[in-house]
This record gives sequence, C-alpha cells and structure tokens, in this order.
Amino acid sequence: MQLLAISDLHLSHPVNRAALLDIPDHGDDWLIIAGDVAERLDHQELAFQELGRRFAKLIWVPGNHDLWTVPRGGETPLRGDARYQALVELARAYGAVTPEDPFLEWPRAGPDGSRILIVPLFLLYDYSFRPAEIERAEVRRWAREQGAVCSDEVWLHPDPFPSREAWCWARCQEAERRLATLPKDCRTILVNHWPMRADLIRIPRIPRFTPWCGTVLTDDWHRRFQAVAVVTGHLHTRRTDVVDECHFEEVSLGYPRQWQWDRGIDSYFRVILGNGG
Ligand SMILES: [Fe+2]
Ligand SMILES: [Fe+2]
Repeated sequence: MQLLAISDLHLSHPVNRAALLDIPDHGDDWLIIAGDVAERLDHQELAFQELGRRFAKLIWVPGNHDLWTVPRGGETPLRGDARYQALVELARAYGAVTPEDPFLEWPRAGPDGSRILIVPLFLLYDYSFRPAEIERAEVRRWAREQGAVCSDEVWLHPDPFPSREAWCWARCQEAERRLATLPKDCRTILVNHWPMRADLIRIPRIPRFTPWCGTVLTDDWHRRFQAVAVVTGHLHTRRTDVVDECHFEEVSLGYPRQWQWDRGIDSYFRVILGNGG
C-alpha cells in the first residue's frame, strides 16, 4: 500500500487523456491529485471516474486551471468560489477527499511511528512571491518586462472576494484555523496546488512568473504543522527538495511536451509514503 501523488494532468490535451486511460489498476494504493486536472468539468469527471476505479482512495485539491471560467456552450459559467464549490461536490461524488473535508488519516504509522494526517489545502496566491523592492501595484508590469503573464488574470475570477489575494488570505486563515486543531502527536502531509515556499521555485524559462505561484504566508507551515512532506504542482518542474527534514515534492505531469509519453503516466507517480510506512 502506497500513497502516490501527481498533479497537472491537463486533460484538455488528448495525449494526456489517452494516457490517463492506460494507467493500470493500483489495488489498495491511494492517490493525491494536486490540481490542474482540466478546465472543463467533463474532463474533471473523467479523471475522477478513471482514477477512482484504479485507486482505493483519491485526495484532490484544485489548481488555477480547474478554477478558470471559460465560457463555452452547454456548461454553466460558474465563477470563483461557486466554481470551486461545484468542483468539491464533483470530487465528493466520486469519493475523493477535498480541502473541505476532515483530514484523512493514513492507515499506517509514519517513519517515526507517529500518526500521519493527509491535509488537502486550497490556498491560491497573493502576488507576494516578488522582490522586496517591487510594489504590489507594479508586480504585473515587472513580470511582463520579461514575458511572464498569467491567464488567471483573465479567467480566474475571485467572486465573491474583491481580489485573488483577498481570496487567498481568506483561504489561508481558514486553513490555519483548521490546522490549529491538529493533535500534537500527529505528523502531516500538506497538499496544495501552489508551492508553499518561494525559495523552492525554479522556473528559469519564466523566472518572473513567481507572483502567481503562492504566498509568503505559508513559508513556515511545514514546521508549524509538523509536515513529513509537502506535495505541490503548478510549476511543471518535477523535483524533490528537503528543508528542515521535510520533503517538498513537486509532482507535475504537465503539458504533452513536458513528459515522455512512452513512459506512461504511471511512471510519473511520486511515492509519498511507501510500503514501509
Ligand atoms: Fe499546470
Ligand atoms: Fe497551475
């Protein structure tokens, strides 16, 4: 029994959808889906259907692409929190655990014998991953100077919040309130689409994309909330970093040009907890 993780399946791409269908049965393994499944709800549903069939448990958090409101025929154009809530309901309909559900206990003891709780989070970003000398009002101009733009500015609406950062702050506050109830003897696996520390972002092709990548508010959450691992996506740069003995796992699959199709999605699943614990 393993806890595996993947993110950024981007099922709008037919190649990624075809590969989803080729994933073998995983028996009693659990799978973390760390956001950016698809822009379309029918593609979201396909993911829950197909992965739900192959794994004993799914843990899901939303990414920015999942939250986009792209007008198209036949789909209700839900915006902001209403769209998020619709995704939560869809995930739950397939038995997936969401950021709105109680934390999920891993049925085996962790590496040091402690209980492990899986904590799905939806925290968004607040443009605070930027150099100290750049004002908030200047951040988009600063990013654009080197070609970094984010389609969230057009498609990710914060309704009913006045801005994406206001939504982010509300999400962080609510998550902190819930995390404050953690039993002291528990360790956690924190799951969020966006990276939780700016210093672990390495995107040399678009270095000024960082404002859309997270919030400084979560910089010490791995320590505060006793994390064994922090699982994120969004960057499409798979890697593992270790900070304070906590594993930070970037688990993106990515767009078709960013992964080797002949290897199959299966080989991109990251093992978060293995057979030994
Ligand atoms: Fe993505
Ligand atoms: Fe993303």
